[in-house]
Amino acid sequence: MVLFKGLRNRDFLFYSNYDSRKGRDLTHDRRAALVFFWAVTRHQVRVYGTVRKVGRQESQEYFHSRPRGAQLSAYSSRQSHLVRSRAQLEKKVLEVATKYPGEVPLPKDWGGYALRPIWIEFWESREDRLHDRLRYVFRSEFTGAWRIERLAP
Ligand SMILES: Cc1cc2nc3c(=O)[nH]c(=O)nc-3n(C[C@H](O)[C@H](O)[C@H](O)COP(=O)(O)O)c2cc1C
Repeated sequence: MVLFKGLRNRDFLFYSNYDSRKGRDLTHDRRAALVFFWAVTRHQVRVYGTVRKVGRQESQEYFHSRPRGAQLSAYSSRQSHLVRSRAQLEKKVLEVATKYPGEVPLPKDWGGYALRPIWIEFWESREDRLHDRLRYVFRSEFTGAWRIERLAP
């Protein structure tokens, strides 16, 4: 689960640690899928494509728009690596807070990903499990056209 930070042109944006488990996975294989799910209305949207890192400047702007506490935690924490104790994490945050009383620098291994979709599937719950599944497949950079296909539920 990551926060969806919005769309830019055709790209879906999210932020993470590049050296986390998912970050290392994405370094080896740029293919990724996002799943959005609305339990109450019974809708699902799946977005499949490839990711690339967003520019450092853009990551920096987002990083500095976050609360200072979140910046300190991101700087202090090597996401997905083992830690001995919570106390060790808290000590690190204190050290970083003392070192950077003003602006916290953008950690070198933290930033955004932009996922460019190859296809997007819209799933809508219908009676007796005969659900609707419509897949939009991206066709052309030039026209921005999508081919719409219906899939069996
Ligand atoms: C509501 C919610 C929002 C989250 N948002 C993010 C996020 O934006 N970025 C992120 O790296 N992790 C986020 N996390 C934590 C991730 O789900 C995950 O624990 C973390 O990224 C490490 O995953 P990994 O070890 O597979 O790399 C969020 C978790 C929850 C429950």
